[in-house]
Amino acid sequence: MTQTRILVFGRMGQVGWELRHKLACLGQVAAVDYPEIDFTRPESIREAVRAAQPAVIVNAAAYTAVDKAETEPALAYAINAAAPAVLAEEARRLGSILVHYSTDYVFDGAKQSPYLETDPPNPLNVYGKTKLAGDEAIQSAGGDYLILRTSWVYGARGSNFLLTMLRLARERSELRIVDDQTGAPTSSECIAQATANLLAQLLAPQGGGLQGRSGVYNLTNAGETTWFGFAKAFLSKPPGVTGAIAPNLIPITTAEFPRPARRPANSRLSCRRVEETFGVRMPHWEDALALVLETLAAGPAPAGASI
Ligand SMILES: NC(=O)c1ccc[n+]([C@@H]2O[C@H](COP(=O)([O-])OP(=O)(O)OC[C@H]3O[C@@H](n4cnc5c(N)ncnc54)[C@H](OP(=O)(O)O)[C@@H]3O)[C@@H](O)[C@H]2O)c1
Repeated sequence: MTQTRILVFGRMGQVGWELRHKLACLGQVAAVDYPEIDFTRPESIREAVRAAQPAVIVNAAAYTAVDKAETEPALAYAINAAAPAVLAEEARRLGSILVHYSTDYVFDGAKQSPYLETDPPNPLNVYGKTKLAGDEAIQSAGGDYLILRTSWVYGARGSNFLLTMLRLARERSELRIVDDQTGAPTSSECIAQATANLLAQLLAPQGGGLQGRSGVYNLTNAGETTWFGFAKAFLSKPPGVTGAIAPNLIPITTAEFPRPARRPANSRLSCRRVEETFGVRMPHWEDALALVLETLAAGPAPAGASI
């Protein structure tokens, strides 16, 4: 029996890295990244898809430098909107499923409760606008797709808030952290595991594919906190766990920490739709954090260790 072919874009990113591991049991995974595939060169995307002929395309590549996007809108648009449009077109041509990731930053954060997939987006910054344009391009392409909308992604590797704060905690005795933006920190490992669970259902012999379930699905760890609350949760652990001496943590407002890109005050996303449609339930962010801290504490395998 031939194995299902899965093509992952963005393999060296936070989510892409985890996907390679979590999707391995589902089929034959090919994973690519920049610079061999450059999302600013649509022909490189087409070539990769046409060479792999995948049943599933998972796109974890993106322009994620939220502040820098304010001064590089054309580049952010090319990577976050034009490239996903090409992927959607190629996926439809092949009859494959496209899995893509979206962001809480498509919303303005003015809502007082968690956002639903049906709430009207209104991005406050360039990154959010380009991601929304990507979502819309995929939705209008006419193929089968899952857009998984997540928030505050972090993990044991890559560039993220957790690793930045741990580094700063080793360098400074005091950290001032924004305490008036609310959301759910979401581990890259949980996103990849949930993606694998969704795909396992769709690819199962009786799974039957998406069958009208194409759409946007919020997918974040459960619970909510602020950036300050998140930082407190790992910086108050003993140094043996994080490698950092607990610094003095000062909660501040967004206004006290001006950034080039505006951020939504409310980033909470309701995950009821993905639970009801696919039975996928994400763990609480504190439980996911404990696992990531465990991975960090374990560190790299000692030299000479064999498996
Ligand atoms: N990070 C968050 O907090 C967050 C929150 C909500 C949603 N999301 C979404 O979740 C998804 C995964 O995010 P992530 O945090 O895993 O992203 P990430 O760690 O920044 O990884 C993005 C990947 O895209 C690649 N890439 C950048 N420019 C490219 C180009 N021109 N052509 C091809 N590949 C390119 C990067 O390669 P290089 O490293 O070589 O540039 C990297 O491997 C994205 O769709 C993102 O928008 C992220």
